[in-house]
Amino acid sequence: MSTTSTTLTLDTSTSRANPTPAPMKRLTVPRIRQRKGGEPLVMLTAYTVRMAQIMDPHCDMLLVGDSLGQVIYGLPHTVAVTMEMMCAHGAAVVRGSYHAAVIVDMPFGSYEASPEQAFTNASRLLKETGAAAVKLEGGKVLAPTVEFLTSRGIPVMAHVGLTPQAVNILGGYGVRGKSDVEARSIVADAKAMADAGAFSIVIEGVMEPIAIEITKTVACPTIGIGASAQCDGQVLVAEDMLGLFERTPKFVKRYGAMSKVVADAVKDYAADVRARTFPTEDNLYRADEEK
Ligand code: KIV
Repeated sequence: MSTTSTTLTLDTSTSRANPTPAPMKRLTVPRIRQRKGGEPLVMLTAYTVRMAQIMDPHCDMLLVGDSLGQVIYGLPHTVAVTMEMMCAHGAAVVRGSYHAAVIVDMPFGSYEASPEQAFTNASRLLKETGAAAVKLEGGKVLAPTVEFLTSRGIPVMAHVGLTPQAVNILGGYGVRGKSDVEARSIVADAKAMADAGAFSIVIEGVMEPIAIEITKTVACPTIGIGASAQCDGQVLVAEDMLGLFERTPKFVKRYGAMSKVVADAVKDYAADVRARTFPTEDNLYRADEEK
């Protein structure tokens, strides 16, 4: 049997995937913009089709973050993430979602050199994934690039404050904006991005008053992570809030215990295999059964 959705056709007799049968309308960039000051926007990271399918009904936006470098590929930071990784995971998340707007991160080195370089890579990301928009890190220096992209049909979500792609300059992932000078610079970065046409701004890892000031000042919605509940929305790395890792950073609230759930299930499976108690009669094919 074949099921058609807004984004894909799946053969449900052979696929493990579980498509939503009824076509749904995705949230668009203009509708996200209109949520400024309204109902808070819900965003989580997603990197794979199945996680996208599970999270999609509950989220306004799914972010294919370059944090996939650490979460999926075990890299030490996001600097080594490639366009190929972002294209492959972005396309998977679009295939697995029907309702949320999908935003794909531009990886380090794919947009900083010039507005033209950014356009080449951002357009490739949108073409190859079907995502609604790209996200890029940076402030004032990248405002001309954001203007170049948005005036040529590429919606941009900006990312200010703690910008993980700059880890080699920053020397780590510490909170930003403790000094007045740095705080003013982060606020100026956000204003420059909003003025350049960013439809939304992620504010990561800053002292709360900075996030509040930016949210009050810019016309587009702000999305906080380690920032403030007063932002127009929130984002977390899904695996952090699901409890896949041992460490829970201060800015994360755990809503699950995924590593324990997986470890317990694998332990039970291993015990069954070793005791020959799996597979059972129920799991075996018989000639007299249809399937
Ligand atoms: O890469 C990512 O997951 C992000 C979010 C944490 C905002 O940029």
